[in-house]
Amino acid sequence: MFIPVILGTAREGAQSAKVANYILKKAEEYGFETELVKAGDYIEAQTKRVGVEGNPKAESWKAIVERAEGMIIVVPEYNHSFPGELKLLLDSLYKEYYGKTVGLVGVSNGGLGGARVVENIKTLINNFGMIATQRSLLVSKVQDVFDETGNLKDESYNEKAIKLLDEVKWFAGRLKGGK
Ligand SMILES: Cc1cc2nc3c(=O)[nH]c(=O)nc-3n(C[C@H](O)[C@H](O)[C@H](O)COP(=O)(O)O)c2cc1C
Repeated sequence: MFIPVILGTAREGAQSAKVANYILKKAEEYGFETELVKAGDYIEAQTKRVGVEGNPKAESWKAIVERAEGMIIVVPEYNHSFPGELKLLLDSLYKEYYGKTVGLVGVSNGGLGGARVVENIKTLINNFGMIATQRSLLVSKVQDVFDETGNLKDESYNEKAIKLLDEVKWFAGRLKGGK
C-alpha cells in the first residue's frame, strides 16, 4: 500500500519537518510503501492546474497521487488554517484525489496540536472526494516533543502514530484509493 507523507509547509526551519520525518519512519516500519513529499518541491509561486503547459511539478505530484491509495498530511497551524503552500499543492489537481484516504497530523507550538487546522482542512479534503480518517494525530508543543536533531523525546506519540496508521490502512484498504 503506497501512502506518501506530505509535508504541508515550505517554511524554513519548520518544526513540522521533524514530525513528517518521524511519521515517514513509522509508516515504513508499519509496512507502507511511502516517501516524503515536500509541498514546496511541487508548487509554483502561483496557482497552476495540472495539464497547463509548462507545469512539470504538478505532473510529478499527479504521478504520486495516482499511485497512492491514500496519504498522510502533516499540517502546521498557521493563523488557525493551513499553509498556503499546501493549498497551492492541492489546488494543482482535482479528480485525481477522488476516493483517497487522508490521515491528518496537526502541528503547533501551543497546546492545541493544530486541532483547528485539522478540522478546517477537512472541508477542503471533502471537496475533492477524499476521506479523512476519524482519528487524527495532534502534536502539541512540538518544540518539546522532538530534540534539536529530530529524535522523538515524548514516546507517547509512538502509540498515537500507530493508531493513525491503523486507521489509514483500514480506510485505504476499503476505498482502494478510488481505483
Ligand atoms: C505564519 C504562522 C502562523 C501561525 N499561527 C498559529 C496558530 O494559529 N496557532 C498555533 O497554534 N500556532 C501558530 N503558529 C505557530 C506554529 O504552531 C509553530 O510555528 C509550529 O512550530 C508549527 O509550525 P512550523 O512547522 O512552521 O514550525 C504559527 C506560525 C506561523 C509561521
